[in-house]
Amino acid sequence: MSVKLKIKVRAALRNLESGFVPHEGRQGKLRLDYNENTIGCSPAVLRALARITGEQVSMYPEYEVARRRLARHFRVRPAELVLANGADDSLRVIMDVFLERGATVLLVEPGFPMFRFYSVLAGARITRVRFNEDLKFPLEAVMAALKRRPRVFFLANPNNPTGTVLGKRELRRILEAAPGTAVVVDEAYADFSGITVLPWIRRYPNLIVVQTFSKGLGLAGLRLGFIFACAEVAELCRKTQPPFPVSLPALVAARAALGDSAFLRSYVAAVKESRKMLTGWLEQRGVRVFPSSTNFLFADFGPKAPKIVQGLEKLGILVRDRASDFGRPGFVRIALGTPAQTRRLIRGLRQQVW
Ligand SMILES: Cc1ncc(COP(=O)(O)O)c(C=O)c1O
Repeated sequence: MSVKLKIKVRAALRNLESGFVPHEGRQGKLRLDYNENTIGCSPAVLRALARITGEQVSMYPEYEVARRRLARHFRVRPAELVLANGADDSLRVIMDVFLERGATVLLVEPGFPMFRFYSVLAGARITRVRFNEDLKFPLEAVMAALKRRPRVFFLANPNNPTGTVLGKRELRRILEAAPGTAVVVDEAYADFSGITVLPWIRRYPNLIVVQTFSKGLGLAGLRLGFIFACAEVAELCRKTQPPFPVSLPALVAARAALGDSAFLRSYVAAVKESRKMLTGWLEQRGVRVFPSSTNFLFADFGPKAPKIVQGLEKLGILVRDRASDFGRPGFVRIALGTPAQTRRLIRGLRQQVW
């Protein structure tokens, strides 16, 4: 950095590669690069947002009613639920509770980049266990690393970007082997996978679950995420937060979204159909597609991947090149939308090479 800043900044910032810079100008394109909902949110959400009054906008938000409503939806006690500004922010809150300079964090990579980002920012020492190119969860290596009692173990289930799912039996093994480690299970894609260990927060005080309304419900622009943990850990999380961590429109939208469960059901069904269609089409053409139970596919297109990604971009179709994950070109992550959107993607792919 060539800044003439005379003020000392946090030492950890020196170890941080420049932050993730999201792409701009994506509106109107076929956005398959951020694992977002590709059809927008429920119309009921837009109607509820339009009814927000000037008084409501001018007031600091109140949370108790919303928290009770959300707790009922998730079948937890309000004391076990923490509201945050997206799952990203939920992860930051958890870091603020457990991490400080020198504390150890265990990560499985390639994984969700924010795990590493916050760990570096906290000045933590990071132990990494890697997936091999078959993308099987490296369970035995994780079990060995847990013996060294890291303060926090982060994993996304299903994992982003690989889509790998860790079974409940394996998760139980991890939780029972590491009572002194905060095991953070990021379930951002639970709406699609149907897999959650949320009810286990009563059984395992070392378990912390993170979820979001950004994906299936399509509220990414409003930022609403959740932390679930035993009441004691949830209280510590709230202690690190400012008094108004979530905006009023996010709460209003959440309430309306929960009232329209048909929207989520039909979107999840559309994504599943797309998953089947795209997997079949790619496999027929010799592309290796990894198993997915989420709203995205991870596939190995081999050396032509960068050209394909760029060619699609020219057609207004955005997908994510993940060459950096294994140090070679080939891996691409593609979000799944409706079957009509998937047919458009397939037409685009056909124009590139097939
Ligand atoms: C595993 C995982 N966690 C968290 C997030 C971020 O979610 P949010 O929009 O709620 O911050 C994502 C988004 O891609 C994700 O893949």
